[in-house]
Amino acid sequence: MKATIVALPGDGIGPEVMASAMEVLSVIADQFGHELTIQQHLIGGAALDETGQALPTATLDACRQADGVLLGAVGGPKWQDPDINKRPESGLLQLRAALGLFANLRPVVPLNSMHDASPLKSDRLTGVDIMVVRELTGGIYFGDKTEGVDVAEDVCRYTREEVTRIVRVAAELARQRKGHLTSVDKSNVLATSRLWRAVTTQIMADEFPDVTLEHLLVDAAAMHLIARPGNFDVMVTENMFGDILTDEASMLVGSMGLLPSASLGADGGNARRAGLYEPIHGSAPDIAGKGIANPCGMIASVAMMLRHSLGLEKEAAATELAIKLALDGGARTADLASSRQTLNTQQMGQRIIRHLTDG
Ligand code: IPM
Ligand code: MG
Repeated sequence: MKATIVALPGDGIGPEVMASAMEVLSVIADQFGHELTIQQHLIGGAALDETGQALPTATLDACRQADGVLLGAVGGPKWQDPDINKRPESGLLQLRAALGLFANLRPVVPLNSMHDASPLKSDRLTGVDIMVVRELTGGIYFGDKTEGVDVAEDVCRYTREEVTRIVRVAAELARQRKGHLTSVDKSNVLATSRLWRAVTTQIMADEFPDVTLEHLLVDAAAMHLIARPGNFDVMVTENMFGDILTDEASMLVGSMGLLPSASLGADGGNARRAGLYEPIHGSAPDIAGKGIANPCGMIASVAMMLRHSLGLEKEAAATELAIKLALDGGARTADLASSRQTLNTQQMGQRIIRHLTDG
């Protein structure tokens, strides 16, 4: 097939992990006979430096035309402007909103061979397979803001429609998996959470009677994620809770550097749909430029793009298997504390590519 992919390396370790992901993608394209055109564009701090905008028009236009968009990371200590529009993160938030990417899928699946990398006891990790579905274009991230020296305000707002569409995405996934959905809110305190809970309860009763529904308050959910991670199947939650809980969940897998994500819009009934794919880790300024970042989350994000935007399931599975075989074989970057030999970003990418080319 022919497809156009936009690569947005961004800031910090973004360009480093993107370089590895590009190598993997070109191997996949060669092996499976696809013609992929890669266009690189600016976003975040890199874009601010060059153009004065965190999301330049040229970048947004290219993303709108693309079959899939890959993003490394945005942000860093260099860009701390009090004006929100002059911060790298606003580029990413604008992109998510402009493309209508309301559904953020973050799979959390610890490998047996990686249990030693998690601070949790191994017996808690066996069988853990969680899909966190984070609402991505609403809530406190996007409400009105006022910012003064002595008082500041962030409005948290959700509509029935916004809750409905994300719950449907999560419930459909649960139906294809173990048939269990956990909805996370703070309905004992927040009005938006009471709407969230009421709408979720109704949608599930009306449209998904075959999927079991559990409601958890977010503070309890944070605890249960550690206490009984094996009991979760699909977890659906609002924007900020999903941001926080997925950083926590990454510790089940061993490192933030391992986790991918897919941000999707409405599918309109198509198997192929536009999406933005990024690791859940940030720009990691403390290790940027050293070439030691873990590229696995970025490469796993490529796999998610192959699956969800290009409809290439075989290629996606091959990529995921290559990552698993590399890790099973003991390949470790510095974030995965281990006595074994530590690989740098490029070497880790090569180890994954070796498993792709060896069959
Ligand atoms: C994430 C990141 C972003 C978010 C930042 C960089 C704006 O933490 O994708 O999890 O908060 O959504
Ligand atoms: Mg985050």
